Amino acid sequence: MDLKEAIYGRRAVREFTAESVDEEVLRQLIDAAVQAPSAVNQQPWLFTVVRDKALLARISREAKAHMLRTSAAALASHHFQSVLENPEFDIFYDAPAMIVISASAGPWIVEDCALAAENVMLAACAAGLGTCWIGFAQGWLGTPEGKSALRLSSTTVPVAPIIVGHPKTAAAPVPRTTPKIDWIS
Ligand SMILES: Cc1cc2nc3c(=O)[nH]c(=O)nc-3n(C[C@H](O)[C@H](O)[C@H](O)COP(=O)(O)O)c2cc1C
Repeated sequence: MDLKEAIYGRRAVREFTAESVDEEVLRQLIDAAVQAPSAVNQQPWLFTVVRDKALLARISREAKAHMLRTSAAALASHHFQSVLENPEFDIFYDAPAMIVISASAGPWIVEDCALAAENVMLAACAAGLGTCWIGFAQGWLGTPEGKSALRLSSTTVPVAPIIVGHPKTAAAPVPRTTPKIDWIS
C-alpha cells in the first residue's frame, strides 16, 4: 500500500474479529512509530502494549466512571453521558490489543507522541489492521491509579491510547469539511 492509500484509506475502526495481533506485527507498528519526528530529536516515547483482556476491561470501567465524575457537563453536550453509563459499553470495542504511547514531562511530548501515534495508525492500515485513538481512556490513565495499571512512573504522561485489531468490516469514510485556508502572499 502506498502512502496516499494509507492516508486516505485509514479509518477509525470500532469492530474487530477475535483474532489476536502477532507480537512481531505489534513490534513493526512500534518501529514505524519511532520513525516520527520528535522535538530536539528527544524520541521521548515509551510504548505500553496491553493484551490482557481483564486489564482492558478494568481500564474501560474505570475510565467511564472517571469521565462521568469529572466531565459531566462536557459529556452531556456531546450526548456521551448515556453511552458511558452503559455497563455493556466497552470503550475499547473488544479490541485484542492497545498500544499506549507515553512520555515523561517535557514541552513537546504531546506533539511527539501524537506524531508517533499517526505512524502507528498508518502502518497498521497498510498491514490490513484497524486502529482507533481512544481519548475516552486518557483521563483515567493519567491518574496515579491509571499510571500504576500501565506500570508508568508518576512523571510519565500517557498521551495516545491506540487500540489495534483485525477489522471485522470496512469502516465507512467520515466526510471531511472543506478546510479553511488563508493564503497570505
Ligand atoms: C485525540 C482523539 C481521540 C479520540 N477518541 C476516541 C474515542 O474515545 N472513542 C472513539 O470511538 N473514537 C475516538 N477517536 C476517533 C475519532 O472519532 C475519529 O478519528 C473521527 O471520527 C474521524 O474518523 P476517521 O478516523 O475514520 O477518519 C479519537 C480520535 C482522536 C484523534
